[in-house]
Amino acid sequence: MRDRLPIRREDAMKIVMLGAPGAGKGTQAKRIAEACGIPHISTGDIFRSNIKAGTELGQQAKAFMDQGALVPDEITVGMLMDRIHEADCKDGYVLDGFPRTIPQAESLTEALSRTGEAIDAAIDIEVPDEDIVLRMGGRRACLHCGATYHTCFHPPRLENICDHCGHELVLRDDDKPETVKTRLEVYHAHTYPLIAYYRAAGVLHEVDGTKNMDQVFAEIREIL
Ligand code: AP5
Ligand code: MG
Repeated sequence: MRDRLPIRREDAMKIVMLGAPGAGKGTQAKRIAEACGIPHISTGDIFRSNIKAGTELGQQAKAFMDQGALVPDEITVGMLMDRIHEADCKDGYVLDGFPRTIPQAESLTEALSRTGEAIDAAIDIEVPDEDIVLRMGGRRACLHCGATYHTCFHPPRLENICDHCGHELVLRDDDKPETVKTRLEVYHAHTYPLIAYYRAAGVLHEVDGTKNMDQVFAEIREIL
């Protein structure tokens, strides 16, 4: 019951989610956003909705995403900066999937520091690579509203149909086993160093992502 209570804070809350692909960043970011009443901003979701809408940004991003590679910083940073300056971000936000490289983190720190702001908490969800592969194969995503499910750990009420909007669920193109392997390699090479970056900034919190979704969220609540 306590898990359902809103998280109340006086000040704006700017949160970064860290963790390997499939660690549960999206799952927990949605819960935090709901509890804190702030937007959940996933760069992966923004790219996927652009791909679906057939925009130029989507076409550029798709080529990288399908291979499990990172979309270049030149494309990603500008897109994220525009998003966090929208009106709904005035009380804070949860960033999911950004930053993903040290240059992205530096751009964010620099942009925030211009207005005397900084990231308040970086939450690293830790899950070993072996568990990741199992999670990705079972994930089903709604490309319409961004909801995610798992065939075993979090099944939808009706098979392959989104509980929220009724659209069909799909296996993401980049959740195929070969691509997951590349994504994990890219994570260790480019994104893992962000843990040390935010530790040095004094805002890092590590949570055990191998527990069930409610237990992970309970741990995050304690932190926030
Ligand atoms: P993105 O969409 O961000 O993918 P990702 O980081 O690889 O992370 P995922 O969304 O795959 O995993 P998640 O941690 O959100 O896990 P989830 O909650 O779904 O990015 C996709 C691509 O876009 C990138 O590869 C890149 O090309 C590009 N991109 C995006 N941002 C970029 C950037 N900043 N710079 C450059 N390129 C960028 O959970 C996974 C599954 O496990 C689900 O099925 C879920 O139900 C289940 N699950 C969750 N928690 C638990 C639990 N505790 N126990 C059991 N099952 C669980
Ligand atoms: Mg995600």
